[in-house]
Amino acid sequence: MSTAAAEAPAADGPAARARGLTKAYGAGETAVLALDSVDVDIARGRFTAVMGPSGSGKSTLMHCLAGLDTVSAGAVWLGGTEITGLKDRELTRLRRDRIGFMFQSFNLIPTLNAAENITLPMDIAGKKPDEKWLDQVIDTLGLRDRLKHRPAQLSGGQQQRVACARALASRPELIFADEPTGNLDSRAGLEVLGFLRDAVDQLGQTVVMVTHDPGAAAHSDLVLFLADGRIVDRMADPTADAVLERMKRFDVGRGSADPEEG
Ligand SMILES: Nc1ncnc2c1ncn2[C@@H]1O[C@H](COP(=O)(O)OP(=O)(O)OP(=O)(O)O)[C@@H](O)[C@H]1O
Ligand SMILES: [Mg+2]
Repeated sequence: MSTAAAEAPAADGPAARARGLTKAYGAGETAVLALDSVDVDIARGRFTAVMGPSGSGKSTLMHCLAGLDTVSAGAVWLGGTEITGLKDRELTRLRRDRIGFMFQSFNLIPTLNAAENITLPMDIAGKKPDEKWLDQVIDTLGLRDRLKHRPAQLSGGQQQRVACARALASRPELIFADEPTGNLDSRAGLEVLGFLRDAVDQLGQTVVMVTHDPGAAAHSDLVLFLADGRIVDRMADPTADAVLERMKRFDVGRGSADPEEG
């Protein structure tokens, strides 16, 4: 792709970049344009939040940036590597070595206990976890006394924390988290947010987080607002109040949501 090549980021540039990122699902009358030519740079060592109405394309954007889904058009880079066009095996390795993903649905393996779920990606990769780091992750997320439990024996919030620990276990340089606090009570949610914040501030990791919660978004450095598959606004150094106000304008503009809601 010659036009895309011109926009390849420098090695010390953004952690991820998309140009003209377009994703269509289905064909003909039922086709859905989930992403409509999105250009975005995800700054390295920063905490970026992604917000927008349900169905606006937030999960799709994360999946495409993380190389978990194919794109219909455009180009995506992780660091200096263009991943659109990579062979499956190369992509799998790159993902495994550099990315942690917390899915909107937790994707835990039901037959494995919490501890086994947390280290599964590393076990598959044949990598030894850094035990000190792993202990810190497990204690921060309050999972110490649940490690032997299988997902079905855990509450929704505990399952989410296991998924969070799994994403962090290998200390990936880039963490994508899809509504990581969606099923947590406020205390556990704050802990997860604090943990992601620390991962950025103290460990230089890059975090991209989808959330519907203005309070959660306020922990980020930059909020990207999505609507109908496009990035329609950005807000640096967000506060919960400012994000809430922005979201309200959205709802009114779209005419689709009740501003009294939430
Ligand atoms: N596998 C799929 N097949 C068909 N359409 C899909 C598929 N996945 C997503 N879509 C559609 O793409 C659009 C964007 O979906 P996406 O999951 O990215 O939204 P979202 O912003 O994450 O929403 P939510 O806040 O509800 O999680 C939606 O209209 C959705 O119906
Ligand atoms: Mg989603």
